[in-house]
Amino acid sequence: MIRLAENTITHEELIALSEWIPNSPQLTKGPLVVEFEKKFASFTGTKHCVMVNSGSSANLLMAYSLLEGNYLRNKKVVVPAISWITTLSPFLQFGFEVLLCDSNNVNLGLDTAKLEEIFIKEKPALLILVHVLAHLNDMEEINRLCEKYDVLLIEDACEALGTSDINGKKAGNLSLAGSFSFYYGHHISTIEGGAVTTNDTKLYNLMLSIRSHGWSRDVDSNFKEDWKKEYNIDDVREFYTFYYPGFNLRSTDLNAFIGISQLDKMNEIIKVRENNYNFYNKYLEGKYWKQESKFQELSSFAYGTIVENRIEVFNHLKKNNIEVRPLICGSMGKQPFWIKKYGHTPLEVADVIHDYGLYLPNHLYLDEEKIKFVCEKFKEVAIPKFF
Ligand SMILES: Cc1ncc(COP(=O)(O)O)c(C=O)c1O
Repeated sequence: MIRLAENTITHEELIALSEWIPNSPQLTKGPLVVEFEKKFASFTGTKHCVMVNSGSSANLLMAYSLLEGNYLRNKKVVVPAISWITTLSPFLQFGFEVLLCDSNNVNLGLDTAKLEEIFIKEKPALLILVHVLAHLNDMEEINRLCEKYDVLLIEDACEALGTSDINGKKAGNLSLAGSFSFYYGHHISTIEGGAVTTNDTKLYNLMLSIRSHGWSRDVDSNFKEDWKKEYNIDDVREFYTFYYPGFNLRSTDLNAFIGISQLDKMNEIIKVRENNYNFYNKYLEGKYWKQESKFQELSSFAYGTIVENRIEVFNHLKKNNIEVRPLICGSMGKQPFWIKKYGHTPLEVADVIHDYGLYLPNHLYLDEEKIKFVCEKFKEVAIPKFF
């Protein structure tokens, strides 16, 4: 069976975990979460990292902390139509006006001409990007537009851990804050898990507080002292003082224990995933549409393509023990939750991805032989489609 994704947690890591568990006093969030956060921030090249219990929680935490920290001049956000439900849902939950933007048909990042139209017409305060299947958006143009129209930029980098731009700067560190997922099948796994990275120390401290009920126990001592003074809080009262209406989005030392050893494999994971992407290009021989972008390293999440006969390809590959899926969610504008609220929102590129997009497996345990086999089976039935 060639699965879409495989667990990156090895038997040896599970044995190490089982030996560590009985000797650890608490297992909840503790020193290992802090150690993981330092290591992760160092890998992504950011100043700060906040570990949470999923990529979805990471998006929720970013969205709410920007609101609470008064970073936004209005509650209008641009979200890519090709994204993930929890890229978008926190904004709906917090009463934002969500403006869907279509993608371009090369890297499946945002169509920057359409983005500029939305910026001019709607004057949103915030843009969240998704680097679809680890292919970076056109960051130069997007940064230029965000500066010109005074729009704050954040990234959902849940599919892009390890990808770097042509200057070697990593996904998630190309904006004010970036979110990551460590769910099974992502680049690394902590069973469930996620993180937000940022270089903004105020936002970092807000996120530390909002992650944990809104109290100040985890925040930097200078922030803690300032908040205490501002509200005249004594040392006893401090234990249960809530500066923000927070959540509990914490991860645990158990998850961090796994995450720390997973991070040691990151460079190997990127190399294998990029090689696999190149093997797909080689064996599909340019006969099919492929997702392309500029990068120094591509930590490819999966191989995205479009075909005329998706269901036939799906069934044929399934018969040959190869797992494939639609290209993530297609268009948010065609999802039931959206249609119920706003009706169908037609979008040129996202709609094609919705109806014809497929992604082929890429993970750490695939090699040239296996990808050649997937490509052979794919080519037996797939009818090429181009934009
Ligand atoms: C772009 C994107 N954002 C967010 C998520 C959610 O991550 P999690 O499953 O860890 O909640 C995913 C999950 O695959 C994703 O692809």
